[in-house]
Amino acid sequence: PSHSPHRADPAPLSSSASSCRALSTRRQLYEKPFPVYKQPVEVGSFSLDSERRFFNDARQIRYFVEPPSRPDFNLRDGYKDRFVKRDDSIKEKLDHILRWILANKSKLESRVAAASSSPALGVDVVTWRGHLTKLLTTPYETREGWLLAATLFRGTLYLSEVETEASRRDTENRTERHQEMMYWGYKFEQYLCAEDMKASPDPGGVVNTNEAFCTVVQTKLADHKLLFSGEVDCRDRGPKSPAAPACYIELKTSAEICTPKQRSNFHRFKLLKWWAQSFLPGVPRIVAGFRDPDGLVVGTETIHISQISHLIKNEYNCWKPTVCMNFCCEFLSFVRTVVREDSPRVVHLFSWDPHQDVTYTVHRDSSYCFLPPWYVEGMGS
Ligand code: A3P
Ligand code: MG
Ligand code: MG
Repeated sequence: PSHSPHRADPAPLSSSASSCRALSTRRQLYEKPFPVYKQPVEVGSFSLDSERRFFNDARQIRYFVEPPSRPDFNLRDGYKDRFVKRDDSIKEKLDHILRWILANKSKLESRVAAASSSPALGVDVVTWRGHLTKLLTTPYETREGWLLAATLFRGTLYLSEVETEASRRDTENRTERHQEMMYWGYKFEQYLCAEDMKASPDPGGVVNTNEAFCTVVQTKLADHKLLFSGEVDCRDRGPKSPAAPACYIELKTSAEICTPKQRSNFHRFKLLKWWAQSFLPGVPRIVAGFRDPDGLVVGTETIHISQISHLIKNEYNCWKPTVCMNFCCEFLSFVRTVVREDSPRVVHLFSWDPHQDVTYTVHRDSSYCFLPPWYVEGMGS
């Protein structure tokens, strides 16, 4: 049987065992024209408060405040005494997105064309933006593998990450220094974000990583209709700011660049992750803070997502946006051919390790099931 009747190129599926059992991640296979990626449209948003409670509104949005040209930001400030860290041992899976979908079900369904063959929700894939970011960067990832659980329910494919053994070990073995450095990114956000249109940032306040504002966007990658959500750091509050998601700004920190080698590594590794994360939801710019080893910000810079491909052009053996997007697209097609049974009780677990193909295993009524009963019932089963 033909794997992908819509494409003339040979499919990047390994034919080793029986057909369709594995997907190659070799970069060369994905050096093709950039696939169609529709401009993402924000269809809603939600907030998680200081206790990680869900709200179907934008109450947690923050407003970007331009940093001074010589910022005096100490990212270590408050780590010991003004930091509330989210409990990341609690695995939330897709729950917040599912809650949002239930709360906005009628709005979503009214967008569905009358065509009877289309999925009930009118989208092919529901997932977190962060999971898609991992897919985009897979052809270039040499260190960390991933596990993605997939369930087909009422014609829509749900993708939810499962923590790998290696990632669990890494989390357990984080050094004190590494743990502190993970705080620095959030502290940088606090220096640049105000709570409302007129306020100033409050660097004396508490950093609480339970709090989040998430956008929900809809878009299309080739023939895959996607609905995904991602956390947004802040928005432009100028009078001429465009509509979401174009008004959103991603904040990032990175080590100060002192040598050509450091610049090259920044382009080749860090900009890949930064590009993938913001390109997906259509966030047009990043404000980056460069810090010294003591956590002092030595400068800030605005990076436009549309300029990143130009910034990296002169790097030898560099990553290519088209490879990222084509791989993601082929992965979704691969999952579509594999996952045929429409049931919240069935999980196909897709697994990838660097230098390997993507493979999968099938699990029925297992602990991998991730669509909760309240969602299945809420969707009217
Ligand atoms: P930086 O991005 O400045 O490193 P995000 O940038 O996605 O908004 O995330 C905010 C901060 O959360 C990051 O700031 C970093 O401090 C922390 N963070 C996010 N993802 C992380 C990860 N996978 N591992 C460690 N820290 C992470
Ligand atoms: Mg963020
Ligand atoms: Mg950020």
